[in-house]
Amino acid sequence: MAEVVSHYDASAPTYTEQYNESTILTAPDYPSSLFRLRKVKKRVSELGLSSMYELGIGDGSPLAALGEMGLKVAGSDLSESMLTVARAQFESKGLDPSALTWGDIQDRSTLEEAIATGPYDGVMALGVLPHVRNEVDVIANMSAFVGSGGSLFLHFRNSLLSLFSFNRLTMEFIQDELLRDAPAKIKDAVREGLESRLAMDLPPKRDWDVNGPAYDEILSKFHNPFELSDLVREAGFSDVRFHWYNYHPTPPMLAGAIGQDFRVAAVDMEADESWRGMFMCSSGVIEATKN
Ligand SMILES: C[S@@+](CC[C@H](N)C(=O)[O-])C[C@H]1O[C@@H](n2cnc3c(N)ncnc32)[C@H](O)[C@@H]1O
Repeated sequence: MAEVVSHYDASAPTYTEQYNESTILTAPDYPSSLFRLRKVKKRVSELGLSSMYELGIGDGSPLAALGEMGLKVAGSDLSESMLTVARAQFESKGLDPSALTWGDIQDRSTLEEAIATGPYDGVMALGVLPHVRNEVDVIANMSAFVGSGGSLFLHFRNSLLSLFSFNRLTMEFIQDELLRDAPAKIKDAVREGLESRLAMDLPPKRDWDVNGPAYDEILSKFHNPFELSDLVREAGFSDVRFHWYNYHPTPPMLAGAIGQDFRVAAVDMEADESWRGMFMCSSGVIEATKN
C-alpha cells in the first residue's frame, strides 16, 4: 500500500485541476472524474439523499460538491497529503474539515470512529477499488456506513472495454477470462491466430504521473462488472444498476489520429445511459441499495 500512498501524495497538489469545468475540451488528460461526479450528483439528487460518507476522498472535490448541495458529508483517505488539500477545500467552502479523517478502506479497525458517526443515507468509494486487494472486505466495510435502504456507489475500472480495444488487453481478457477453462490447445490456437491482428504493443504505460510511482506501477486493477455486481449482491445489496463514463467513441488506439474530434465525441457520449457503456467506457459506478 505504501506505493499507492506515495502515488496519491505526489498527485495531491494538482489533483483538483481535473474538476475544472472550463477545461473539459482542452485539458491534456480527459477529465473523466468530472463526468463521474456529475452522474453521482444526479443520482444523489434523484434519490433525495441527505447524507453521504466517502472512503478515499482524494482532494475532497466530489464530497465538497455534495456538501454544497446540502448533504451532511464526511469521509476519509489513506493519503495525508490528499487530506490536507481536502480539508483546505472544505474550509474554503464553509464545510467542516474535522469531518475528514485518516482511514483505510481495507481495514475496519481504522474506520470504527467514523462508522459511529453514521448511519448515512449513502456511502461511496470513487477511484479506490482498483487499488485494493480484497473486494469482499471493502464492500463489507462500506456497508457498515449505511442502514437498510441506504445507497452504495462503487467505482471500478471496466475490464469489458478490452473487447473494444483490440490490443494486449483484449488478448488477456480472451485468454484469462473467456477461455479460462478451455484446453491449452484451444488457447494456443486463439493466441497464435489473434496475435498478429491485435495491437499487442498497446496500451502504453502511463507516464503523466508526478514525483511518485506511476498509476500503472501501483496496484490498479480492472474489474468485471458481472463479477463485481455479484459480490455487491452477496454483501447484502439489491437493485444493482450501472452508471458508465469515460466513453471511447473509437477503440483507444485510433484516438491520436482523430485528435480533438475524439474528445468532442467522447464528451457528447457521456450522456448515453444505454448498455453501450459496458463496452465503450473505461469506468463504471455500481449503484445498489442495502437490504
Ligand atoms: C483516484 S483518487 C479518487 C479521489 C476521489 N474519490 C475522487 O473521486 O476524486 C483515489 C483516492 O483513494 C485513496 N485511497 C487509495 N487506497 C485507499 C485505501 N486503501 N483506503 C482509503 N483511501 C484510499 C487515495 O489516496 C486517493 O486519494
